[in-house]
Amino acid sequence: MTDKYAVIGNPIAHSKSPLIHAAFAEQTNQDISYERILAPLDGFEVTVRDLISKGYKGANVTVPFKFEAFDMVLPSNRALDAGAVNTLRFLGAEIRGDNTDGLGLVRDIKQNFGINIANKRLLLLGAGGAAEGVLHPLLEESPTLLVIANRTLEKASSMQKKVEKKNESRSYFLNAKAFEDLADQQFDIIINATSTGLTDTALPIPNTIFAKGCLAYDMMYGRETPFMKQARESGAQVADGLGMLVEQAAEAFYLWRGVRPETQSVIKKIRNLA
Ligand code: ATR
Repeated sequence: MTDKYAVIGNPIAHSKSPLIHAAFAEQTNQDISYERILAPLDGFEVTVRDLISKGYKGANVTVPFKFEAFDMVLPSNRALDAGAVNTLRFLGAEIRGDNTDGLGLVRDIKQNFGINIANKRLLLLGAGGAAEGVLHPLLEESPTLLVIANRTLEKASSMQKKVEKKNESRSYFLNAKAFEDLADQQFDIIINATSTGLTDTALPIPNTIFAKGCLAYDMMYGRETPFMKQARESGAQVADGLGMLVEQAAEAFYLWRGVRPETQSVIKKIRNLA
């Protein structure tokens, strides 16, 4: 019998997740279906309950429901760290929640770009949900330094404090800054986790922050953002978030099916379809 899965969001029409999971299923001979579900902004919980009653085995959760999902589930440690959930597993009456976003980013950087995060200087731009979702998995890779920079400095500082509370021994390499205080530093990996790609807005960051051979990673995908353009013109190697999207999906697929799909061919396939 075909096992049913879905991705729930609002909007959802442009989600590439069904294509990605169809490619994984074909590759690993898994009998699953995977569809997009548009939940009303005030109807996430009802939508999830409906899926459970119809026998779905699990779902991915995307914007804007990742925090609401967290409140409904038994969270994994990764979900607790992120304070948000992107993968649901329906086990009888229980809903397990996990977060595979940060792992997806780390895997893309390490495996697909071949860049070791350990001993690197990292800059995380943004202190919203997207940044919070990837902070812990990045720290677990033991960078020399991780600076969180944000337009609203207090939000970056509060992210820093949350981590320091949990893990005081390692807090020394974590720092929060405003964009205008970055001028005197260089970074090996710079990750844009702000939503400025959506609005085509440039960030007020100096060109001098891109160290020689630096990786500039935008968590958005689909087109070149102002951040990616600036990074490219400053000599950085530039990445968009498509690899992260496929890698987070692969981890969700593994949680559901117990098999790990190969991702590089799927990243290529989805990129060629764009
Ligand atoms: P998401 O879930 O995508 O992270 P969010 O939680 O609303 O969305 O966070 C958006 C992030 O993009 C924040 O870091 C925000 O900065 P503020 O905390 O100062 O609001 C950042 N951001 C959005 N628009 C921006 C802009 N025009 N310039 C700089 N940063 C911006």
